[in-house]
Amino acid sequence: MQSKNKKIRNASITAVGMYVPEKILDNKYFESIVETNDEWITSRTGIRERRIMENGATSDMSAKACEDLFKTTNVKPEEIDIIIVATVTPDMLFPATACLVQEKIGAKNAWGFDLSAACSGFLFALQTGASLIESGSYKKVLVVGSDKMSAITDYTDRNTCILFGDAASAVLLEPSEDLNFGIKDSLLHIDGAGKNALYMRAGGSALPASHETVDQKLHYIYQDGKAVFKVAVKGMADISFEIMQKNGLKSEEVSYLVPHQANLRIIDATAQRMGIPKEKVMINIDRYGNTTAATIPLCLTEYYRTGKVKKGDNLILSAFGAGYTWGALYLTWAID
Ligand code: COA
Repeated sequence: MQSKNKKIRNASITAVGMYVPEKILDNKYFESIVETNDEWITSRTGIRERRIMENGATSDMSAKACEDLFKTTNVKPEEIDIIIVATVTPDMLFPATACLVQEKIGAKNAWGFDLSAACSGFLFALQTGASLIESGSYKKVLVVGSDKMSAITDYTDRNTCILFGDAASAVLLEPSEDLNFGIKDSLLHIDGAGKNALYMRAGGSALPASHETVDQKLHYIYQDGKAVFKVAVKGMADISFEIMQKNGLKSEEVSYLVPHQANLRIIDATAQRMGIPKEKVMINIDRYGNTTAATIPLCLTEYYRTGKVKKGDNLILSAFGAGYTWGALYLTWAID
């Protein structure tokens, strides 16, 4: 990130939008398809239900989230300079989902790309978009977090199928000359040592799709839940605390922690480390489960629309995901 004294503008979130599919799978439903129960799922994860996209792909959910956003701003799709779609469930390996979204929303003057960082995808995309705005070259960047996790979930594997859901959410980034608002700092990391703890093994160049890969169920999410839990708890708590310290923020100066929604126990541990009480933690994992790149913007949109986030609020966004990837981002909310 640019050093503070050189910065002449911040990137601010100036509009938000979301889309969640109508179909709901509650915990009871999972009792009917795998050996599990509502009590186990709720107490171990915090999830009560999740949404599933029956017809349509990641680009359709993304376009709906963008259309929802455009209803709330005077900015028109043709004014968008860049579309960044954070996803691990692109419609196809290529072209990029961003191209499909561009066509669907009529952003005819935009360029764009997909960004793959799993559950940290939205944070990485937000920082990338912010840097492009800060450069002075671009004025309107759409950052979308969107995943159709049901497309890569094995509904016979109780370890993973209860965790994930489908959703999309989008934010608009625009320049802010007032440096009191907008994205102020971020700490982002990757570590490929985690590559085999959470991944989809086949379908890429290492192991192209074949009858064998399908028979062996290698096109689904594999997760070593225990291993990921251990590093995620520490990774998310440490990075969130570190960004507070780096920016001299006391816990009472943080209006909200906006955590990736993978497991309520990971979220609680992060809040505890930061000294943040429960009521200042954005949570919707109970209703949507883990929607990968969509969790954080979905929280932002819901909390903003219900009047819980106000202009001037300091937010710490944080995430941990496959890769490993992780990070935290500090911003001051700029929308009235
Ligand atoms: N219902 C009932 N039992 C289940 C179950 C389910 N849906 N899923 C797993 N179990 C069982 C396991 O088989 C295991 O049984 P065993 O001891 O006989 O082998 C037992 O429950 C405990 O499993 P464990 O993995 O220790 O549970 P956990 O408390 O770690 O919770 C996760 C499992 C997946 C919820 C948890 O590990 C987790 O959240 N991991 C990280 C997820 C994450 O953050 N991902 C990164 C970002 S996407």
